[in-house]
Amino acid sequence: MDSEVTRRQLLTQLTAAGAALAVLPAGASAARLVADTPATPSMIPMLTAKPLPEKLHWTEANGITFKTHQAHYGLYKGYVTKANEIAQALAAIGKPDPAAANQTYSPIRELKVEYSFAIGGVKNHELYFDILGGQGGVPTGDLAAAINASFGSFENYTADLTATGIASRGWAWTALDLDYGTLFNYAGDAQNTFPVWSAIPIAGLDVYEHAYYGDFSTARAKYIAAFLASLDWKAIEARYDAAVRKLKA
Ligand SMILES: [Fe+2]
Repeated sequence: MDSEVTRRQLLTQLTAAGAALAVLPAGASAARLVADTPATPSMIPMLTAKPLPEKLHWTEANGITFKTHQAHYGLYKGYVTKANEIAQALAAIGKPDPAAANQTYSPIRELKVEYSFAIGGVKNHELYFDILGGQGGVPTGDLAAAINASFGSFENYTADLTATGIASRGWAWTALDLDYGTLFNYAGDAQNTFPVWSAIPIAGLDVYEHAYYGDFSTARAKYIAAFLASLDWKAIEARYDAAVRKLKA
């Protein structure tokens, strides 16, 4: 079973129970908490799921079926729902009492940790759905030059991304580090590990089993080859160009 499924089930309980402990008077119910929660908490964005891109039909030619994308999209919408639910629970707490915070267990800890998991699930999957559905091949222009500068060659880059994906338990990301101006393939074991500050991801490879098991069984390397053959380099180049503009800002 994917660990993220178990975490979502846990989060459902924690969001209601934890927030209720923090804000409700004795005798009040968790259901009442939900009813009293502001629909749009200040300072925390309320999210709306983006549609599943039709271009993802093109990955079928390489073995990643649209049926898999549709099931995957359902998981993504779950992250959107949970991110909003946690945002509302945090808003319901309002001004936290530091004396009630605890690093072993406390509602504020659980909400903050699981918010990073939920919002990571949203951003990771929006990236994944955006950079697939192309014809694969090779990048062009500034991104091609940047890949050569950071990895030595495109072949080195794909070998490194493939190895990183096989070595990871959830994600591999290609990101531009704004501090150093270099591209690097980062490993992630979950939706919220292991991001690096000031590194902007331009491509995301989902290696959770739900992304490929239905099409490739346990053959993750074959899935990654299909992923590479299905990349939309124009979308990745656009993300790289946007990241470079931040680098120069
Ligand atoms: Fe996923």
